[in-house]
Amino acid sequence: MSIRHAPYEEAADFTIGLKAIEESAWLEGGEADPAARKDPLYAAHRDVVWGEVPGSQAGQREVLAMIEAALGEAIALEGRPPLYAAARRTPDDLVLVERRDGAWRVAALSLSAPTFFTVSDVLDRSLGQIHDPVHGFNDRFLKRVERIFEGLRPGLVLQRRNWSVVNSAEPFTPDSAPIRARIPAIRPEQAADELFVRVERQTLRRLPQTGGALFTIRVWLHPLGDLADDPPRLAAFARAWREAAPAFRAYKRLPLYDELVTRFLRAHGESHSVNGN
Ligand code: HEM
Repeated sequence: MSIRHAPYEEAADFTIGLKAIEESAWLEGGEADPAARKDPLYAAHRDVVWGEVPGSQAGQREVLAMIEAALGEAIALEGRPPLYAAARRTPDDLVLVERRDGAWRVAALSLSAPTFFTVSDVLDRSLGQIHDPVHGFNDRFLKRVERIFEGLRPGLVLQRRNWSVVNSAEPFTPDSAPIRARIPAIRPEQAADELFVRVERQTLRRLPQTGGALFTIRVWLHPLGDLADDPPRLAAFARAWREAAPAFRAYKRLPLYDELVTRFLRAHGESHSVNGN
């Protein structure tokens, strides 16, 4: 399958990177039955994948209406909270962000494909609290991101994408530790199949009635080896791998994969390693 998103073509550092897209391009779809993936997680690990604060029902109902409008179908609640009823009909995770107590805070979310975090890490937290672990975020980006949340025009759809490399094909990864513990067992010749480029495609839009914002997260994963079939992307990835900013590399734990990725790139004609070896 061709590679859908290649954000390493654009950035190898932290970036806000929000760009306007057509409203018709908002949700990408492409998963036959998201509920079949999400419902078992909701049943088995409810507190990890689902959360809501009191008073978020109106915003949740507006999220549901927005998803119904985008899909062109009505969604029955069948006893579920409105935001979860919506989330199980789209591959994306859904995050309702509302202004409360003077800050933009996560008011409800369905999080079935977390990249190393859980609902309790973000529920009721402000944008500043959530991004505290991200090197430089609060100094460099927070004010601008808050202004974006304030000024979002109804109908405007913003998109950003990020990328990393992980040794797991599983979308549901609340915890990095068991995954990273398996890295030493990966042999260089397995890197093409055992390492994955993990891209999050995120969108943001205003909820005009209730005044909140809906943030969506869609995870796309493909084996590193797929890059070998797409030489321009392989070259872009190799450049990003070599040139990634030190704080970005450290935050994403890319050094853990340096040897495996460098050998993969060399085997495919991309010969400069990150250390110039
Ligand atoms: C649209 C505005 C936002 C921007 C520009 C933004 C930007 C970022 C950036 C630059 C990072 C570092 C990794 C990366 O490159 O993506 C990050 C990480 C993260 N973001 Fe956001 N973000 C936004 C909204 C949100 C929202 C609404 C949530 C709520 C779930 C969220 C949750 C996270 C989490 C959990 C991390 C990882 C933090 C950690 O390492 O513990 N972000 N974000």
